[in-house]
Amino acid sequence: MLLQDKVCVIAGASSLRSIGYATAELFAEHGAKVVVVDLRMDEAVLRRIRTSIEAKVVAPVIIDGCQCDVSSAQACERMVQDVIGLHGTIDCLVNSAGIVNSMSLLDIDAEALETMLSVNLKGAFYLCQKVLKVFVERRAGNIVNVASLAAQRGGGLVGGPHYAASKGGVLSLTRSIAREFGPLGIRANAICPAMIETPMLDGLSPERMGSIVESIPLRRTGSTREAAGACLFLASELSGFVTGATIDVNGGTHIH
Ligand SMILES: NC(=O)c1ccc[n+]([C@@H]2O[C@H](COP(=O)([O-])OP(=O)(O)OC[C@H]3O[C@@H](n4cnc5c(N)ncnc54)[C@H](O)[C@@H]3O)[C@@H](O)[C@H]2O)c1
Repeated sequence: MLLQDKVCVIAGASSLRSIGYATAELFAEHGAKVVVVDLRMDEAVLRRIRTSIEAKVVAPVIIDGCQCDVSSAQACERMVQDVIGLHGTIDCLVNSAGIVNSMSLLDIDAEALETMLSVNLKGAFYLCQKVLKVFVERRAGNIVNVASLAAQRGGGLVGGPHYAASKGGVLSLTRSIAREFGPLGIRANAICPAMIETPMLDGLSPERMGSIVESIPLRRTGSTREAAGACLFLASELSGFVTGATIDVNGGTHIH
C-alpha cells in the first residue's frame, strides 16, 4: 500500500480507457482516497468509474467525482474547495486532463491555439496553483503532471506544434514548481508518455499505427496501466528525493 489514506485528485479520468482512469484505479489499489475530476463528469460517469474500480480492487475503495473545466481558474478553485470540504485536505494532484490535435503550424489559427493552451497549459497552471495553496499551508504535497513526448522531440506522433508547445510549457511549469516549493517539502514531477493506448490514438490509421510501432524499440504501444505505474512511483514515497524530474513512458521512442 503505497498511498494509504492519501487524498489524491486525478484530473482527466472520465474515460475508462484513459491514463487518468488507470491512475485512479492503481491509486485506489494502493489505499488512496481518490477524487476523479473531469469536464465530462456526472453521476453516470462516476458510477461507471466506481463500478469498474470496485470490480478490480478487493479492499473497500473511496472514489468521489468532481466536474471541472480545468481551463477555468474559478472552476479549479471551486473543485479544490469541494475536495477540502469532502476530505479536509489534498495530498496529491495528478493532472492528466488534456486535448490533442494534429494540425500543421500554418493551419493553426488564433482560436485553435487559444483552445489548446487554455486546456493543456493554463489548465495545468490553474490546477497546480490552486492545490499549491493547500500544500503551502500543510508544507507538504505532491504534483504529477502528464506532459508528452511531443514536448521533448519537437511535435508529437499525434499532436501538432501547438500541442507540443502546450506540453513544453507543462514541463517548464513543473520544474518551476519543484524549484520554488521544494524548500517547503513539496514535490513536482512530470511524465512524458507516448503511444499509450487511449482514445487519443483513435484517429490513427492502421498503416500509420503500424509504421509508428515499427519505430518503437519495444515494438509495441504502451498500456494506461504502465503510464499509471510511473505516476504511482512519483506520487509515493518511493520517489521521496525526486523532484523536477521527467519520466519517459515511451517504450524507448525517445532516448536522451
Ligand atoms: N495517449 C497517449 O499516447 C499520450 C501521449 C502523450 C501525452 N498524453 C497525455 O496524457 C493525458 C491523458 O490523455 P489520455 O491519452 O488518457 O486521453 P483521454 O482523452 O482519455 O484523457 C484526457 C481527459 O481529459 C479530459 N479533459 C479534456 N478537456 C478538459 C477540460 N477542459 N477540463 C477537464 N478535463 C478535460 C477529457 O474529458 C478526458 O477524460 C493528456 O494530457 C495527454 O496529452 C497521452
